[in-house]
Amino acid sequence: MRDRFAARRFIILNFSLPVCLVLLLSLTLLSAEKKRGTQKKETDSISFARDIQPVLEAHCLSCHGLEKPESSFSLSSRKSALLGGNYGKAIVPGKPEQSPLLLMISGTHQDEIVMPPEGEGERLSEKEIAAIRQWIKDGAVWPDDLILGTKSRSREQHWAFQPIVNSMLPAVQNQRWCKNEIDRFILQRLEDEKISPSPAADKTTLIRRVTLDLTGLPPTPAEVDQFLNDSSPEAYEHLVDRLLASPRFGEKWARQWLDLCHYADSDGYLTDAVRPHAWRYRDWVVESLNENKPFDQFTIEQLAGDLLPETTFAQHEGTGFLRQTLSNREGGADLEEFRVNKVVDRTKLMGTIWLGLTLDCCRCHNHKYDPITQKEFYQFYAFFNSAYEVNIDAPLAGEQQRLEQQAEYQQKRQALIDPLREPLEKLQREWEQKMLYAASHPAEDHHWARAWEVMGLVWGVGTGEGQQEGLEILKMKPEQRSQRQQDDLLDYFLGRGQLVNGDRFKELKLGELARKLGELRKAYPAVSRAPGVREMQTPPQAFVHLRGSFQAPGIPVEPATPEFLPALQKKNQSRLDLARWLVSNDNPLTARVTVNRIWQEYFGQGLVVSSDDFGTQGTKPSHPQLLDWLAYHFRNRGWNVKDLHRMIVTSATYRQSSRMRPGIHQKDPSNRLLSRQISLRLPAETVRDQALAVSGLLTEKQGGPCVRPPQPDSVVMEAFGYNTWEVSKGEDRYRRGLYTLILRTSPYAQSVIFDAPNPSQTCSRRDRSNTPLQALTLLNDPVFFEAARNLAQQVLKEQQGDLEEQLRYAFRLCLSREPQAQEVARLKLLYQQELNQSETSEGKISKEEAAWTVVASVLLNLHEFITRD
Ligand code: HEC
Ligand code: HEC
Repeated sequence: MRDRFAARRFIILNFSLPVCLVLLLSLTLLSAEKKRGTQKKETDSISFARDIQPVLEAHCLSCHGLEKPESSFSLSSRKSALLGGNYGKAIVPGKPEQSPLLLMISGTHQDEIVMPPEGEGERLSEKEIAAIRQWIKDGAVWPDDLILGTKSRSREQHWAFQPIVNSMLPAVQNQRWCKNEIDRFILQRLEDEKISPSPAADKTTLIRRVTLDLTGLPPTPAEVDQFLNDSSPEAYEHLVDRLLASPRFGEKWARQWLDLCHYADSDGYLTDAVRPHAWRYRDWVVESLNENKPFDQFTIEQLAGDLLPETTFAQHEGTGFLRQTLSNREGGADLEEFRVNKVVDRTKLMGTIWLGLTLDCCRCHNHKYDPITQKEFYQFYAFFNSAYEVNIDAPLAGEQQRLEQQAEYQQKRQALIDPLREPLEKLQREWEQKMLYAASHPAEDHHWARAWEVMGLVWGVGTGEGQQEGLEILKMKPEQRSQRQQDDLLDYFLGRGQLVNGDRFKELKLGELARKLGELRKAYPAVSRAPGVREMQTPPQAFVHLRGSFQAPGIPVEPATPEFLPALQKKNQSRLDLARWLVSNDNPLTARVTVNRIWQEYFGQGLVVSSDDFGTQGTKPSHPQLLDWLAYHFRNRGWNVKDLHRMIVTSATYRQSSRMRPGIHQKDPSNRLLSRQISLRLPAETVRDQALAVSGLLTEKQGGPCVRPPQPDSVVMEAFGYNTWEVSKGEDRYRRGLYTLILRTSPYAQSVIFDAPNPSQTCSRRDRSNTPLQALTLLNDPVFFEAARNLAQQVLKEQQGDLEEQLRYAFRLCLSREPQAQEVARLKLLYQQELNQSETSEGKISKEEAAWTVVASVLLNLHEFITRD
């Protein structure tokens, strides 16, 4: 003991010496430390090596070792032990009773944390605890160069975390089969397994397949004929180019992206209020796909469009991506809790969509399988923690005039305000100050606390969900606010600010001013808004949430990327830096994950089947070199999305027949080797779109607010507690499924039955089920019944007379191909039976039409109709 004090005095003395001695000092310190270590061993006191190290190794290091330690607390070196973990410092040298570590092992920690955790290891003996107590008391001496635990490199060796390589094209024997590079990789594997590829699908099957895959709609009989009659060698390539250029392409492929970010038109939770502006983001996605926006730009605009230098509103609109989180506008909801939930959700989405990692698994504890710590989760979280929700001015086409009239509007508005300006500003400032005070002192005055809360809840109602915006504007200095924010705040104050001084309110006739301002607004409508985010003026500090609870903040964290991935160099990183990092050349995940997800739509499964998990628990790629080749070229050719689609659908691999052949069943049972194409049940939206298309009901109108197509009455009655379902009129009844309103608590029933995902959770792979409910829907749902009737009418109109011609016509509309003689015979029989059975027709429907409606309904129910072969 005396030695130690002597050493300390010595250090203090040294500190008062000139700076040039600093070096000497550290050397002296080192040797003093060493000497101390050896002397301890000689005396009877605590020896680290003898008394402490074995205890840590036996009881702690399995969880607090070098690599990914629990709670970010590593007992592998003195430095890391003294640094502490997510809870902060664990050891206070010299003060055992103030050291959480000791309290935890002795079971006296205030939060009842016990180490090792209950049921996961034996408690330390009295003697061991006493030794650790003494050890801490003596200064937690630990030789500087002694590192406990070993670092295994195995996890970092995981294939998906390695840099993407430009794979060599493999040599193959049957070169003539290959149409492009993809085929070389596929064929090599097949040749290795001694399997030949399947023959190409016939042209009719092919045009139906590729049209459904690229546009989500079937080809028309005329389009089929044109393709069949085109004998040029590039006929198929031309077809693909036409489809890729069609605006239907964006409508089809937006759905996959919207599944990922769990897009919906309502808030979620009990009230599930409708979000009137949500569709703006949906249209933004469709347009981005149609204009072939490079995927890196697509990424950056969604995660950080607001932060781009000189951002345009079209770029800013991309941040609608970050608004796909659920929100709760109910009274009594804890705003901070729901804000945190949203930030967590955004972090998770970024992890799934770009990194293919299950980040949610490290929200409460370190990831159990992948090399990400809980602390690293909250470092990702910190990127999103400083964004607040705002509805931005985003004029629609045709709103130019509104923009131009804004100056005039402002003039008239100011003229109304001017006579009252001074007293009004004074009152408003008073109100703002009281509100802000209430925010930080909620317990002091119930009325003001309530006013503050109400503002958080009602701001944005009517203009769309955007609870945080009102509060954020209030926190800004007036000169930081935009004109619209200033105006909105004044209007809000006039509507609800009486609390500050009701008498003055009456005296100044502020109610009347509010009314006049409201009328003026009606005369000069504002430009439309779109959901987005912006950075807060004073961002809150982000913390590790201990055990996942936002009410248990651990150590503070700054934005950073995990250690096992390439580092983000810059200090003070923003969301923009994160977005750029995701699409940077050395990020090994984004390109692989993206390419794989697109691939999966064309073959029913990805090269990596677990398209949402590229971590160590995910599946290994079936063709790792192909995956890398695709990822490498996708990235290096400017993240060109349509090129990637073209590459895939023009490959010989894609064009194969989906027929099962003898022998394949054993060698390639789940088609992982891609020895054929595959029959796939069409996605929910396509099932309905196709029925509308072939029956002539579908309207081509693109974009705009959501619509409500008919649903069975029973569904409507059951599902809509707070919302109503008023069926859209006119052409809005017949629009593509993409435009159907999605309420989170009661999504469109037909979509649910055909496996549309839960609109509140990210989905990177839809289920494909086959249930009796689906057949019942196709038979009885009003949409499909209407389609059958319309198809019948159309057949009778277009092909008068000959029944066989009629059947052929209907068949080609629905299935693109000619019927076989046997099929014609069976449908004929059905028609005749129906005709004979049908009672004398009621009302306007003729007997023929009634019989034909039954035949049409059968066609719409065929397995082949709802399958893409
Ligand atoms: C089975 C795994 C496991 C073992 C073994 C284990 N711990 Fe822990 N430790 C944890 C987990 C999990 C946490 C986080 C607890 C929480 O948040 O409730 C933690 C937290 C801690 C903390 C808080 C650190 C911080 O600031 O985040 C300390 C100190 C600690 N452990 C010490 C020990 C010691 C000393 C031992 C050995 C005697 C030990 N632990 C053994 C899993 C373990
Ligand atoms: C809401 C908090 C929370 C989330 C999210 C969470 N866990 Fe856990 N998990 C816990 C708690 C609490 C325990 C028990 C204490 C412990 O082992 O840390 C636990 C334990 C475990 C265990 C067993 C403990 C062991 O070491 O054997 C595994 C495995 C596990 N979690 C995996 C996962 C995976 C995989 C995910 C993501 C799909 C996940 N957890 C997400 C809270 C969570």
